[in-house]
Amino acid sequence: MRPTRDHAPVYNYGSINIDYVYRVPHLVQPGETLASASFCRVLGGKGANQSLALARADGQVSHWGRLAQADRWALEPLEAAGVDIAQIALTDDPSGHALIQVDDAAENAIILYPGANHGFTESDLEKLVGGAEPGGWLLMQNECNAPASILRLAAARGLAIAFNPAPLTPEVSELPLTLCQTLFLNRGEAAALAERAPDASADALLEALTGRLPDVEIVLTLGSDGVHYRHADCHIEVAAHRVKAVDTTAAGDTFIGYFMAARQRDANVEHALRLATTASALCVQVAGAAPSIPPMADVEAALRSMPTLALTRHSTT
Ligand code: RIB
Repeated sequence: MRPTRDHAPVYNYGSINIDYVYRVPHLVQPGETLASASFCRVLGGKGANQSLALARADGQVSHWGRLAQADRWALEPLEAAGVDIAQIALTDDPSGHALIQVDDAAENAIILYPGANHGFTESDLEKLVGGAEPGGWLLMQNECNAPASILRLAAARGLAIAFNPAPLTPEVSELPLTLCQTLFLNRGEAAALAERAPDASADALLEALTGRLPDVEIVLTLGSDGVHYRHADCHIEVAAHRVKAVDTTAAGDTFIGYFMAARQRDANVEHALRLATTASALCVQVAGAAPSIPPMADVEAALRSMPTLALTRHSTT
């Protein structure tokens, strides 16, 4: 069911990349030249992937982005899914792009060139945020420039902010994260922000993060180890589906888009977690970023046919 006009709009300040995807037997080693078994060029970027997932999850999203005029073709999947692309600027500067290796074990390695994603000016941001409906959501990742400015402008406008600080950079720790309502973190991002070892337990990471950001909802995605949601005294853990991954690119983006669409429809957290986890499980079984993001009908069918995901409510006292 598509949300009605009563549902809070989501504005996604997000990257749009052209992904160059190479299938390789193993990730290339220093000094090695390696032939790839296949190659494709597709829409990607954490921002675009998350908008696409939100729309495929029957949510409504307006994407704020920048892309080279010459790469207009890459917007077709966003348009087809119903993403509002009116605020995507077509630029003379080159698009952002990603060189992605995916190996036979479904591991990936990505080189990112920010390109047009880093071309937002202060006046662009003021105009975009000035046109947003107070009470809506700002969704953002860390692939566009000026994250501190957009955070401050969005909070002042009365938008709820959902932030996925990926890829994590040292500057993220300096951002005003207390302005966020929701943080989506993977293990590495959580460990860095919590100043804990990468192999710290989920409980230790969540304890440290809620100590530092007591009012922020933390969604900690752990791949095949499931997902944790923590906010105040609520701590929910949902297990992952057991599936054979062929490519994990965009699995996190799929999770976030589906989770946000469920929240936009005012679904409860438990449902949002199960829906998003199931969408990610489908995503990892298909190669590519944007092309692997499933439509809602497939996710609903999987929810009916796959085993019900175990859900645990942890005590926080
Ligand atoms: O999260 C996956 C995305 O990360 C890819 O589509 C690539 O563009 C990089 O931004």
